[in-house]
Amino acid sequence: MSLIIFEFLKINLQKSHHFFPVLQLSEMVMAVVFAVLLATTKGVESRKAWRENAEGEYLEYCAISCRAKSASLTDFGGVGDGTTSNTKAFQEAITYLSQYESEGGSQLVVPPGKWITGSFNLTSHFTLHLHKDAVLDEGEWPVIEPLPSYGRGRDNTDGGRFISLIFGTNLTDVVITGDNGTIDGQGEVWWQKFKRGQLNYTRPYLIEIMYSENIQISNLTLVNSPSWNVHPIYSSNVLVQGITILAPVTSPNTDWINPDSCTNTQIEDCYIVSGDDCMAVKSGWDEYGIAFRMPTKQLVIRRLTCISPFSAVIALGSEMSGGIQVVRAEDIVAINSESGVRIKTAVGRGGFVKDIYVRGMTMKTMKWAFWMTGNYGSHADNGYDPNALPVIQNINYHDMVAENVTMAAELEGIPGDPFTGICISNVTITLAKNVKKLPWNCTDVAGISSRIVPQPCEALADQGPGSVAACNFPEESLPIDNVQLQVCSYRRKHWR
Ligand SMILES: *[C@@H]1O[C@H](CO)[C@@H](O)[C@H](O)[C@H]1NC(C)=O
Ligand SMILES: *[C@@H]1O[C@H](CO)[C@@H](O)[C@H](O)[C@H]1NC(C)=O
Ligand SMILES: *[C@@H]1O[C@H](CO)[C@@H](O)[C@H](O)[C@H]1NC(C)=O
Ligand SMILES: *[C@@H]1O[C@H](CO)[C@@H](O)[C@H](O)[C@H]1NC(C)=O
Ligand SMILES: *[C@@H]1O[C@H](CO)[C@@H](O)[C@H](O)[C@H]1NC(C)=O
Ligand SMILES: *[C@@H]1O[C@H](CO)[C@@H](O)[C@H](O)[C@H]1NC(C)=O
Ligand SMILES: *[C@@H]1O[C@H](CO)[C@@H](O)[C@H](O)[C@H]1NC(C)=O
Ligand SMILES: *[C@@H]1O[C@H](CO)[C@@H](O)[C@H](O)[C@H]1NC(C)=O
Repeated sequence: MSLIIFEFLKINLQKSHHFFPVLQLSEMVMAVVFAVLLATTKGVESRKAWRENAEGEYLEYCAISCRAKSASLTDFGGVGDGTTSNTKAFQEAITYLSQYESEGGSQLVVPPGKWITGSFNLTSHFTLHLHKDAVLDEGEWPVIEPLPSYGRGRDNTDGGRFISLIFGTNLTDVVITGDNGTIDGQGEVWWQKFKRGQLNYTRPYLIEIMYSENIQISNLTLVNSPSWNVHPIYSSNVLVQGITILAPVTSPNTDWINPDSCTNTQIEDCYIVSGDDCMAVKSGWDEYGIAFRMPTKQLVIRRLTCISPFSAVIALGSEMSGGIQVVRAEDIVAINSESGVRIKTAVGRGGFVKDIYVRGMTMKTMKWAFWMTGNYGSHADNGYDPNALPVIQNINYHDMVAENVTMAAELEGIPGDPFTGICISNVTITLAKNVKKLPWNCTDVAGISSRIVPQPCEALADQGPGSVAACNFPEESLPIDNVQLQVCSYRRKHWR
């Protein structure tokens, strides 16, 4: 069997220091590709990964690691005709390629075509490279255990959950990328079953990575996920760039990415239209999340555009029982969304949300620019501890403009457990016409403000225009900002 269709050409280090020292040694790269590609049809020239030179066609893109071996899904019997199931081809390809984990890693290329597939699992030191259009078939979906920090399926079903389309656990060094190839979750059937209460298990996600480190997910379009699109959990060093998310705005729980009990995550340059929060930062649910004690921390978010008429641009919670700390978000555009940044929590959650900094947000047509909800409810079960109060403190928002807003802010802490250290500065909110409500409604919160229009509630004591720098963004970088990508090039040897 001649599996190696690409000859590895070169690695160019773009920068000089390495964030992933492990990857620079003899560790492997593994990638899984799981989608259908219609790559040749409507390619966007400007971002093509396929290039040509005198020696022929080659594939070039940026990644945390380059791989020694590369194969095509067609080498494993894959057929991209839009009808044949490729589940076995994916599973066999990745099983085969996993032998290169310690020999420079491997890449699986999904060529142009429409590749129907069920779930498959990734391996370490692996890259999955997709051209376009992956389509899930409706084959068997294994059911796996509930997440330990949630105790049960999130769809309010007992017991298990359907495994994600692309799933990986206990891995290191995994890249899922493409030339803006598409993964189509064909969610409609799932949404209908969910709405009718016909599912006994929690719906699958498109991509879930658990207990892993050094993950890159980039330059893909994800459409119509059955539920959440991307779920990194119990993982570290997660880099997400250039993802387009498309789902009907009325589809249930089609959150884009939910970093969950993860350390060092960077999410940049994404465009999202979805039926739930564009992103929701999480860390476990009530007594299960408290016991698991794994926070999400050191999360960097930049340059997102979000359209989410019924949900938030960035939600913190509601499942935050392991804690959320050090989140920095900047250069965010929100259009026709329910709220901008929203903190969601409840008595019984425990945990904390602290050291949150958001700057440079432009919002247009919003119900609330800012929203904090201390009575979100939504408990895993009745076993939650009524004395487990969340700690919400040091929340900073600055340099924002919002237009056509129904209400500037609804900031609702918890009686006896106020949300403190809220700092809002240099924010101009233009209310929609004919709005009758008070623009600010604050209960059980405390903090300061400077240069806010319209005048904020008294709980955010105005420090005067000279204190506009009070909520300033920290200038020092976080570890994930120092990740170095390499340029990986692969020449096509025999390409079918
Ligand atoms: C994603 O595509 C853009 C546009 O082609 C390119 O500049 C960028 O390097 C790619 N990013 C990754 C991580 O491959
Ligand atoms: C993928 O991993 C999960 C969890 O370890 C397992 O239940 C499932 O059977 C695996 N799937 C395949 C195709 O090996
Ligand atoms: C994966 O890692 C977790 C946490 O370290 C561990 O509890 C679990 O047993 C590991 N699972 C496998 C399949 O190795
Ligand atoms: C990727 O594809 C989606 C869907 O076709 C498109 O909306 C988006 O503009 C594309 N992104 C880039 C950077 O070409
Ligand atoms: C769900 O569970 C019910 C009750 O146990 C059972 O009758 C039904 O067949 C199950 N549905 C599916 C789709 O498995
Ligand atoms: C303002 O928001 C309302 C919904 O609250 C919407 O119907 C209207 O089109 C928006 N106006 C503009 C100018 O965007
Ligand atoms: C206020 O925020 C705007 C962006 O919304 C920015 O251009 C401006 O420089 C900021 N002003 C101060 C005093 O920081
Ligand atoms: C203000 O918030 C409190 C607590 O959330 C709520 O009970 C009250 O109805 C709100 N008032 C207005 C005018 O919206």
